[in-house]
Amino acid sequence: DTGGYEHFLLKEIHEQPGSVERTLSGRLDQRFATAHLGGLNLDARELREIRRVKILGCGSAYYAGEMGAQLIEELARIPAHSEPASEFRYRNPVIEADTLYIAVSQSGETYDTLAAVQEVKRKGGRVLGVVNTVGSAIARECDGGIYLHAGPEISVASTKAFTSTVVAFALIALHFGRIHDLSPADGRRIVSALNALPGQIREILAQSDDIAALAAEYADSAGMMFIGRVRGYPVAREGAQKLKEISYVHAEAYPASELKHGPLALISPELPTVALVPDDELLDKNLTTLGEIKARSGRVLAIAHRRPDSRLADHCILVPRSEPELDPLLLNIPLQLLAYHAAVALKRDVDKPRNLAKSVTVE
Ligand code: BG6
Repeated sequence: DTGGYEHFLLKEIHEQPGSVERTLSGRLDQRFATAHLGGLNLDARELREIRRVKILGCGSAYYAGEMGAQLIEELARIPAHSEPASEFRYRNPVIEADTLYIAVSQSGETYDTLAAVQEVKRKGGRVLGVVNTVGSAIARECDGGIYLHAGPEISVASTKAFTSTVVAFALIALHFGRIHDLSPADGRRIVSALNALPGQIREILAQSDDIAALAAEYADSAGMMFIGRVRGYPVAREGAQKLKEISYVHAEAYPASELKHGPLALISPELPTVALVPDDELLDKNLTTLGEIKARSGRVLAIAHRRPDSRLADHCILVPRSEPELDPLLLNIPLQLLAYHAAVALKRDVDKPRNLAKSVTVE
């Protein structure tokens, strides 16, 4: 039942204020400015021994893992990296005793991710799961973990589970950070920002009609470029993935810093760019990149906290500001709506895109 929405995907996008609340529910500790994660099965002493975090997932789970890796590095200052589980399992990975492995899966049944977990465990590594489906194969195989409680996700393209995964990583990063060097003041800053997310997501969802108008304008492009710097880059990757999956429009994600090292050759009025432009310490660099695109007659749709000069961006979707570490989570929400409305404008099978399955349980 799509609950009055035209598609499950739109319903699930609109469920996000509630699903984020459920992921947070009972896990924030105001007093110690940290997060409580009962299922990790790791005490503070064991956590202090961890020198590296390796995150494994497929598709959107892998991109959510990239946001997770940045959160862990920024808040806990532990080196963290996300890799496609599908690649990891085939390359005879080195398993280190002081590395914590984290498997990410909405369904908990993706075969490549399960195989990666089994490979880590067979070699004596420790794996946590960030999983939505309670009691699923991956959840059962892991040594501990955190459930998303996002509720069932029906549409093939992941939206609310993606967002809840990033929230779960913020909780993990906060918890690890407060065991390491994250100050109580910084912990409180993150706790307040997490509590504010549901309301801020509602503000973005209220722009759905405006985003639909923009999507109709951009949907008939031959392709689209998505760019972001550092925190913005995983947002660009997930945004491009979502557009490809459900609208079949070719989309390519690039770090904004790499544009001039190759893909700038593609920029023309026929290949518009979606640019992630948060108002952080890299704003000036990002605005310079927009200038380089405009100088090649490229069209720019900026996703930003402040509207850039009209000479730098043709259109802009404004997003409320969180804390810089959590901004990527909110910057992604308009890209879900952009992909959804583009797919509707192109009359695609939104909830069941061709050639894809909700979870790939075979090799
Ligand atoms: C893909 C789905 O096959 O599996 C994606 O089409 C999904 O939407 C990916 O992100 C991973 O799925 P899961 O259930 O492991 O998160």
